[in-house]
Amino acid sequence: MQGMILSALDMLVPTHQTSGLWRHPAAAPEQYRDLDFWVAHAKLLEEAGFDTVFFADVAGVYDVYEGSGRTAIRAGMQYPLLDPLLLISALARATTRLGFGVTANVSWESPFLLARKFATLDHLTGGRIAWNIVTGYQESALRNIGGGLLPHDQRYDRADEYMDVVYGLWEGSIAPDALRIDAATNTYLDPDRVRPINHRGQWFDVPGPAVTLPGPQRVPFLFQAGSSPRGIAFAAKHAEALFFAGTTPDNVRPLVDAARGRLAEEDRAPSEMRTITSVTVIAAETDAAARQRYESYLRYVDEDAALALFAGWTGLDLSTYGPDDVLEEVHIEGNRSALQSFTAMDPDRAWTIRDLAAHMTIGGRGPVVVGSGETVADELERWMMESGVDGFNIDHALRGPDLTAFAEHVTPVLRRRGLLQEGTGTLRSQLTGADLLPDTHPAASFRRG
Ligand SMILES: Cc1cc2nc3c(=O)[nH]c(=O)nc-3n(C[C@H](O)[C@H](O)[C@H](O)COP(=O)(O)O)c2cc1C
Repeated sequence: MQGMILSALDMLVPTHQTSGLWRHPAAAPEQYRDLDFWVAHAKLLEEAGFDTVFFADVAGVYDVYEGSGRTAIRAGMQYPLLDPLLLISALARATTRLGFGVTANVSWESPFLLARKFATLDHLTGGRIAWNIVTGYQESALRNIGGGLLPHDQRYDRADEYMDVVYGLWEGSIAPDALRIDAATNTYLDPDRVRPINHRGQWFDVPGPAVTLPGPQRVPFLFQAGSSPRGIAFAAKHAEALFFAGTTPDNVRPLVDAARGRLAEEDRAPSEMRTITSVTVIAAETDAAARQRYESYLRYVDEDAALALFAGWTGLDLSTYGPDDVLEEVHIEGNRSALQSFTAMDPDRAWTIRDLAAHMTIGGRGPVVVGSGETVADELERWMMESGVDGFNIDHALRGPDLTAFAEHVTPVLRRRGLLQEGTGTLRSQLTGADLLPDTHPAASFRRG
């Protein structure tokens, strides 16, 4: 088996995809605001063999459940939150090879300013920055930012044009040889090697030129996570890693196959887009000790908060359903993959609202793997074999205890089995062997000779 991509999934919030556990005696719900903690945590992840730490982000309150944000706010459910982009330089300073995935939403970030921010971080991280491209699903965010949430597929159409703008700014505006720093001719940059992009489209008018010199990767490593058909089509065109979340390997396999099929239609090789699925890991010295910690977690879960999160994702107010009502595939304009995980992707099971609430309390849509290092490593290998994914977003119930236990118990087993990659250099070179995107990627068509 080839190496396993390991990404630590996180968010700068009291509680990310696990509800109620901030009340557990081992929890540290204030830790997300503590820079010293994050620096120490990034070092832990790097030593534990993670390729990246990946920060999710939203900009609204989960206010669909009972038509109000009260449940999510009370529970600290992805609220309140800090902006993850502002954390990255400090983590880069403390590490040498860990990559940093950061979510930024094309429905409200200006493409010109986003290109500048990620180019800046590409320099400051030595080429270790990745961008998780999201189109979003929260009306509550856009209510404050402006513009309104477009219909689902139109969000992706607009995102395609957005990508043309940022590719133009990163690849097509300041030529790689523009930087002269030549005192004799008084030329810092060669003005003949800097040009506008003159983008005029349906959604954006951006003349350029770019104002930030592209960094070592020129284009940040590109993550994406939509697994609706339109989401997969977008990913197959642009993404270098596609994130899934599903309850079993059998449920994730069709998404992996669909994504690889679409990739071929875009004339991209299978190795040009990795697939990564979410798994919550609770490890310990022995299976029994891990199970005991897991059971202690179960005593604190908050099912209302879990339903508030799912309602916010999908736009379905689950407070209007009975506990034994079955979740059905219905048309939604929100996060289609989230609903799909418990409907179309799991055709043999009828998920009731009660089942959904219980499953969602720890780790959201993904599975929870509980056990010793050997047990966890076996299960991760089984997932890779049966679903076809290339790696994992490792989620946690309690960030500190679960990631420390992963480093202590799971990492040594993965290392012994030769599954960790642990390269050096830019993130793209660690994951693909090259600093820049290949010629088959659409960004390359914007490239200046
Ligand atoms: C691991 C993972 C992380 C995600 N992180 C974010 C995020 O930080 N912000 C966000 O708005 N959406 C996030 N999403 C949601 C996706 O970007 C996307 O909106 C969702 O999967 C629905 O897309 P679809 O309707 O095309 O399936 C994430 C999804 C997954 C599986």
